[in-house]
Amino acid sequence: MKGIILAAGAGSRLYPASLPISKILLPVYDKPMIYYPITTLLLAGIRDILIITNPYDIDNFKKVLGDGSQIGVKFSYAVQEVPKGIAESFLIAEDFIQNSPVALILGDNIFHGFGFSSMLKEVGTRTHGATVFGYQVQDPERFGVVEFDKNNKAISIEEKPARPKSNYAVTGLYFYDNNVVKYAKTLKPSARGELEITDLNKIYLEKNELKVEILGRGFAWLDTGTFESLLQASNFVQSMEINTGMKIASIEEVAYRMGYIDNKKLLDISKKYKNNGYGKYLEKIVNTV
Ligand code: G1P
Repeated sequence: MKGIILAAGAGSRLYPASLPISKILLPVYDKPMIYYPITTLLLAGIRDILIITNPYDIDNFKKVLGDGSQIGVKFSYAVQEVPKGIAESFLIAEDFIQNSPVALILGDNIFHGFGFSSMLKEVGTRTHGATVFGYQVQDPERFGVVEFDKNNKAISIEEKPARPKSNYAVTGLYFYDNNVVKYAKTLKPSARGELEITDLNKIYLEKNELKVEILGRGFAWLDTGTFESLLQASNFVQSMEINTGMKIASIEEVAYRMGYIDNKKLLDISKKYKNNGYGKYLEKIVNTV
């Protein structure tokens, strides 16, 4: 399975904070926002990742993440010139995807919760159909919304409906089989001029090939789109990390636990951050496992 991170938005809702650098590289507490979606893909067993950025920020992403070899994975980069919708990712990524199934995650989507790793591990092995994740929210009209029948089977999916048929938002993490490029090519721009991911999901739903996994109570799907929600996300991560003594979305730790780098390599990386708690945390992992 291959992975795509869509990190191309201008982030204008966070101007002037995100004027100097992409929103997706702004810190969420102690690490750049993109560490969170990278971790999600790594936990799904994905090591070959395409990062789609806007034309202005691509060099900054490369500076932060390089080619991925430092953590035993492969990062490559592509540009979305104009924000023409999430589903355009599959057209941009056609050569990258080749014959593989593919997962897509939005660069500003932060997931955290018990059992998520094992769920991702299993979903990452699916090679047929599509899988999306439903999460209960207060304001479903802001999202793609999925409706279920009595047996919890998805029966409709709508983009930002004025009258939502349920409180379940479709989160920004999607897994598809290799038909996704073919289907993406059939999409027409919506009223807002975008190739909608919801229209792509509808194709799978109509073919009875869409699975919706529910992220239950106690699970955190965090928004980072406003000044308030970005700060709240940082506070959430800080609070969890301080309470448990464990870091959320340290890509170096995850790469180590997945067996992509050894303890010597992790120790080397920890030295880069030796003056702060991040480096000390990585060092502690090396010394305790
Ligand atoms: C997009 C999708 C929407 C999904 C949301 C998740 O919304 O179109 O279906 O629920 O991401 O973050 P947008 O960011 O385009 O408002």
